[in-house]
Parts: sequence; structure tokens; C-alpha cells
Amino acid sequence: QTTLRGAADGLNKDIGVAVSYNLLQNNAQYRNLVATEFNSLTAENAMKWDATEPSDGNYTFTQADAIVDFAEDNGQSVHGHTFVWHQQTPSWVQNLSGTALQTAMIEHINTVANRYEGRVASWDVVNEVVSDSNGAMRDSFWLRGLGEGYITTAFQTARAADPNADLYINDYSIEGDNAKSDRIYTIAQGLVNQGLLDGVGFQAHLILGQVPGDMEANLQRFVDLGLKVRITELDVRIQTPADAGELQQQANDYRRVAEICAELADCSGVTVWGVRDGDSWVPGVFPGYGAPLLFNDDLSKKPAYNAVLEAL
Ligand code: XIL
Repeated sequence: QTTLRGAADGLNKDIGVAVSYNLLQNNAQYRNLVATEFNSLTAENAMKWDATEPSDGNYTFTQADAIVDFAEDNGQSVHGHTFVWHQQTPSWVQNLSGTALQTAMIEHINTVANRYEGRVASWDVVNEVVSDSNGAMRDSFWLRGLGEGYITTAFQTARAADPNADLYINDYSIEGDNAKSDRIYTIAQGLVNQGLLDGVGFQAHLILGQVPGDMEANLQRFVDLGLKVRITELDVRIQTPADAGELQQQANDYRRVAEICAELADCSGVTVWGVRDGDSWVPGVFPGYGAPLLFNDDLSKKPAYNAVLEAL
């Protein structure tokens, strides 16, 4: 195979990419590469609450629609991201409480899921609901306003709104077996018992050289619950400037993650969190780090690209 897309098609898996509405609109080379190399798209920002319902009941789907249209034009599936998150959610939502907050959540999920029914294959229903300390639930306005039951309510709503979409719980730093992934496991068990969960999304925002040694075993325990697993936001950040040795280590890290997904029949796919290094969210959020993706800014392929191609 000569493209990631061709290789992933051969495995019947998704090779996905997070896309920017602006770049899809304005950059023909970016557009062509996205269409050629990937068979699945995720909106990097365009399906988040602040983008789709900036004020109560006023929905803005221009950007999300354009991404779904692009995917359809190019025979690509869409992994939807995301309904319920503590970030990129407007303050009008965060200022609600009790029944009003629950009603807003239900209406939002119904409206967005219904709009894309049959066009979005899977959804990150809840995102980052577990904290980084001791596997406690994240102390968000969702938890404070509604209690832990908001997670079940979100999944029940999404299930009813689009019964054919695969529903995922998504989080970061759960690639290995640790307190946080243990809590995700407990939540997943409960949702599976109610028939509300189809998969677990492992964001995999990794640091160079730190693919957990137990990552495959950790994903396997979720598969053993009857779930799909998916690498949803893969990037491997390097302290900049990155030298050749670091780019080779990065290739090995990408190779390992792609191999794990290739080896697990119930891994639905791997999505990388952006196209070119210069497009990545990493430098803005992790100062001193960068170069985390598969393509240079001139769209030339990095060693990591070839490693993923070989692994698929
Ligand atoms: C990031 C986007 O990449 C940025 O463009 C945006 O400014 C902030 O959000 N976990 C997630 C993603 O689930 O939605 C985040 O995306 C990265 C971390």
C-alpha cells in the first residue's frame, strides 16, 4: 500500500484525522491530503458545544456540516466529538443548574445527534469525565450540577437519538493500566450492563518514548467487556527543536500504537490529532513541546508516517 488509507481499508479499520474547518475551506493541498490519506474524519473543534450551540437554542452547524459533507464526498466516515465536556462549553450552559442543566444537555444531544443520524458513525458522548488524581470523578460543572448520573443520562439520550451510532466514552492518560483507566473501566462496566456503551476512546496524547508497556493489555481488558477500543486523538510530542534521533523514536512510538490497533480485532481505528506539525494544539498547551504529528508543514512525510504505514 502507498497510503495510510489504502492500508487501513485493507484491515477494515479507520485511519482518521482531526480536521480544521478553516483549513479544509482554504487550503487545497490540505484538502487533497486529507482525502487521500484518511478514511475517517473528526472535527477538531466544529462539533463541540461552543461551536454548535453558542447560545441557548441557537444552533450553528455551518462548520460541522461542511466537514460531514466533505467526508461524504470523499467516502469517509465521521467520528463525532463531542457532546458533554467541561471545556469549550459556553458559559450559558455552565451557569445553569439542576433541571435546567439536565434539560439543556438532553436537548443539545438530541439536536446534534438527530441532525447527523446516519452520517456520523460514532460519537464521543462524554469526554474527560475522570480526573487525574486517584481516579476520582472530574470535579466539573457537570458533576457539581447533576451528580454522577449525568453520564448515564447522556448515554441514554444519545442512544435514543441515534440508535445506530456507536457510543464512546473518551479520555486521556488511560492508555496504560492506572487509577484513571481503572475508573473508566468501572464506568464502562456499568454502561455496558445497561446496553449504553459501544466503545472506549483512548486519546493518546503521548510524550516521546512513553507508550505504556501495558497499553495492549489495558485495551484488551476493555475488549473483554465486549467493547470496541479506538485511539481517538493520537499525537506524540517532542521537546523542540526535535532532532533526527527523536523523530525516529517518535516513529517507533507511532508504529507501536498502530500495531496495537492492528492486532486487536475490536480496535475500530486510529485517529491522529491534526495533519501538519504546525496545525497542532500541542505548542500552545505544552510550552516547549511540538512536532507531534505525521506531516511537516510543507506536507512532506515524517518518519512517523512511514512507521504507521508499515504497521497497518
Ligand atoms: C483541542 C483542539 O485541538 C484545539 O484546537 C482547541 O483549541 C482545544 O481543544 N482533548 C480533546 C480535544 O478531547 O477536543 C482537544 O482538542 C485536545 C484535548
